[in-house]
Amino acid sequence: MRRVQIFDTTLRDGEQSPGISLSVEEKVEIAHQLARLAVDVIEAGFPITSEGDFESVSRIASEVKGPTIAGLARIHDADIERAWEAVKWSERPRIHTFVGTSDLHIEHQMRSNREDILERTGEAVRLASSLCSDVEFSPMDATRTDIGYLAEIVAAAVEAGADVINIADTVGYTTPAEFAAFLKDLQERVPGLKDRVLSVHCHDDLGMAVANSLAGVEVGATQVEVAVNGIGERAGNASLEEVVMALVTRGDYYGVEVGTNTRQLANTSRLVSNMTGYEVPPNKAIVGRNAFLHESGIHQDGVLKDRRTFEIMKQADVGLEGSNIFLGKHSGRHALKEALEELGYTVEGEVLKRAFQRFKEIADHKKTVTAADLEAIAADEVGSFEGKFVLESFRVVAATGRQSRAAVTISHENHGTFEAEAEGEGPVDAVFNAIDSATNIKGRLTDFRIDAVTGGKDALGEVRVMVEFEGREYAGRGLSQDVVEAAARAYVRAVNVYAGSRVGAEWVAR
Ligand code: KIV
Ligand code: ZN
Repeated sequence: MRRVQIFDTTLRDGEQSPGISLSVEEKVEIAHQLARLAVDVIEAGFPITSEGDFESVSRIASEVKGPTIAGLARIHDADIERAWEAVKWSERPRIHTFVGTSDLHIEHQMRSNREDILERTGEAVRLASSLCSDVEFSPMDATRTDIGYLAEIVAAAVEAGADVINIADTVGYTTPAEFAAFLKDLQERVPGLKDRVLSVHCHDDLGMAVANSLAGVEVGATQVEVAVNGIGERAGNASLEEVVMALVTRGDYYGVEVGTNTRQLANTSRLVSNMTGYEVPPNKAIVGRNAFLHESGIHQDGVLKDRRTFEIMKQADVGLEGSNIFLGKHSGRHALKEALEELGYTVEGEVLKRAFQRFKEIADHKKTVTAADLEAIAADEVGSFEGKFVLESFRVVAATGRQSRAAVTISHENHGTFEAEAEGEGPVDAVFNAIDSATNIKGRLTDFRIDAVTGGKDALGEVRVMVEFEGREYAGRGLSQDVVEAAARAYVRAVNVYAGSRVGAEWVAR
């Protein structure tokens, strides 16, 4: 059977989703989980774009063992050299270089011409190959590129030493049958492609990213680029869990195999959702909480008699069966660490100390702390620990009719502690206004959602917010048994994501 490589771009293309901005610690944590999931390649970031991206790619390259670690680079020398500096620590480094090849991209984005881009592609791939033994080249917007020119540029990249050629449907424009025919045509025009890995990278603008990726596999692609939960630019990338389970469940049809440890799919999906603040819809294929639920009487009856009547996969195969991890208030720090490890979190040092404190506070009020609670606590702590601002305390001082008054104390890692009071329409609004005042950063709330992590009256409340700063939205997520506190934590998290994105900008205290 042909082996299809799973190339995960959650930390690069996925992280480009509106509102998502992961910290270095969070990216490293996700990369460790991707290694447990046994993906073949982790695209860890785009090192030239920021110090933070460079640091996270370097750390992932040196710490995460197993998968190939790729860094993205435009066809500029400086990008390629920077990507190499970051990935060179890996046992399996890869430089992934790309350029727009459609006339639209060449003329309007690159302000160049076909000859120039052709020549620069060859030079870039040669430079990358002189540094790294594994080089991937992507013609961006390939599916809207003239096929004759695309063949020339792919042939030039192959000739210059590219090991992987990745055909990108950058704007999610193609359809499965069209894409398959396009790839076949390209393979015929570039005979050298048969000795290289042919890869596909599809976006979901028309909801066909997974179908298009699978159509690519049908005509010979042996690498598929995907993101966990399908996150990514605009409508997102092809979803990792859907591509993998389609190839596993219908291996008979596709005639291929993958090396993914599918039992880690649910854990990985939850980790990414918790850390990005992007919820998984309940009806999402494979990892949605309803993906294996049967509502109608006929279906329930069938499943009770034999699950295969209405199920094509086993819940256990994707790691979705109920976890039997429970901790009580007498559980110690070691038990917490072990339980978190089993759930895919490697939490140590200061983060473990804080997670344990949170666990104790929660266990004091809740009879049993479940796996879902623990995951939520761990995700909350891994993310919040690195923030510049920490919510030290909050208080709703007064509430009359619809008006409330709240006081907060916020500390800043370099500038000390700030207190502020503010009014608002209800306690949550008042706390948000007080946070604006204490941090001297004014945000505009654009989305607010509240959910219970587990059932029961003592459930942990999870609040997700989207807050706009300077015209861009930032996501935040907070957790507590007190809903106002969960909201305050989510809001501070969004402030931290925004503040973290302004590397080099001076923060001015009130
Ligand atoms: O969508 C795209 O074209 C990309 C490339 C960098 C591969 O993400
Ligand atoms: Zn992309």
